[in-house]
Amino acid sequence: MSDAPAEPADPGEGATRAAPGDLGALRAAPVDLGALRAPDLIAAKRDGGEIDERALRWLIEGYTTGGTVSEAQMAAFLMAGLCRGFSDAEAAALTRVLVGSGETMSVAHLPGPVVDKHSTGGVADGTTLLVAPLVAAAGATLVKLSGRGLGHTGGTLDKLESVPGLRTALTPDEVQAIAAEVGCVVAAQSSRLVPADGALYALRDVTATVPDPALIASSVMSKKIAGGAPTLVLDVKAGAGAFLPSVAAARDLAQRCVAIGRAHDRQVTALVTDMDQPLGGAVGNALEVAECVALLSGPPRGRLAAVALELASHVVAMGRAQAEPDAPAIAAVRAELTRRWADGEVRERLRALLAAQGGDAAVVDDPAAVLPTAPVRRPVPAPHAGVVQRVGARAIGETAARLGAGRVRADAAIDPAVGVQVHAAVGDAVRAGEPLAEVHARTEDAAQAAVAALGEAITVGAEAVEAPPVVHAVVG
Ligand code: URA
Repeated sequence: MSDAPAEPADPGEGATRAAPGDLGALRAAPVDLGALRAPDLIAAKRDGGEIDERALRWLIEGYTTGGTVSEAQMAAFLMAGLCRGFSDAEAAALTRVLVGSGETMSVAHLPGPVVDKHSTGGVADGTTLLVAPLVAAAGATLVKLSGRGLGHTGGTLDKLESVPGLRTALTPDEVQAIAAEVGCVVAAQSSRLVPADGALYALRDVTATVPDPALIASSVMSKKIAGGAPTLVLDVKAGAGAFLPSVAAARDLAQRCVAIGRAHDRQVTALVTDMDQPLGGAVGNALEVAECVALLSGPPRGRLAAVALELASHVVAMGRAQAEPDAPAIAAVRAELTRRWADGEVRERLRALLAAQGGDAAVVDDPAAVLPTAPVRRPVPAPHAGVVQRVGARAIGETAARLGAGRVRADAAIDPAVGVQVHAAVGDAVRAGEPLAEVHARTEDAAQAAVAALGEAITVGAEAVEAPPVVHAVVG
């Protein structure tokens, strides 16, 4: 599965020791790594300096493997960087350091254009369950290493594992075999792939240092580069339920990811998509699988299908264009994928994917008979007639997590059956008492708490509101 990454370059000789805040000494190679001290690098970053690659490598290796940099020092450095900002050069250097911390996958011998997809994390975002079979149905191969949900955002592995029998802990040989046979595979990321990102991400998660464009870009792109696919599509979320709420910040993140990809010889397109309200209707693991199966049982419809189709069309068009420059443009690929979806080809690919990973593929025929269900269901009625003004993605994601669909700690167990089915979207006209959502809970108490929280998260007013666009921008 792996090609060992190149060893980091030897440290330079004869460098001067960087005095606190002495950025010139840090910028100007060579740096005497023996003389570097974490407090100096933290101070340099705190004062707005730019840290070069060797110093970044020293710091991160010292934290993740060497024990020479403490958790407190690493956290202070990350917070200093978040407050002062990281440059493009630092983001690129950080990416190289992260990629170099582990193995990289080889995908060269897989059939068709080999592609990958990544989302920066959202609520009711089952796009991978749609994009993977879409791409495979179009003759490309998608090898996706996914993560679990954390906080208010969902994770693809948790969703897939709600299908009885399905395994995501696959060996490298299984990943390769399933990708070759089905055209797509979704597996848990190996601890040998970008281990430094795992360590840094866990620290960022508990020190409020996740929402920085350079840190997110290097984290996302290190995984994609180590994953090996030459062609990537990214779904960068913008809105209340995303790590970066403003479209401008999300666009900046998208541009940084595209630039890092180019520097690593990857073809990358990033879509900036709306995450002010949940993307799909289902929030919760089994509920989201059922929603995706239902969507694939007819022509594409709704916001979730639109984003999945757009992501798949871009990545398939890019992959084909690499192999043959005269390949059809995006509009023709979109039309082809829409037809394959409506004809049921994509649904059959999903069946093959679930079966190949050990799951009960009958879920594709009758999700209700196969997936776990919650014993308590309670509606969230509209308080009065009007127009839906807000469907708060973050609050709904947090409510689903509190019901047991998500986890507050990385090693916590989840309940695959529980969650929220959202019926309302921004701009919808509703009648008094009409259900805006339905809670799926394990107990009556949990259901009542969730109904109250959702009553706050979804607001109905008198003013007409336009539904927000699904895709804000395409970058790359
Ligand atoms: N997703 C990632 O993989 N990394 C981040 O830092 C944020 C979202």
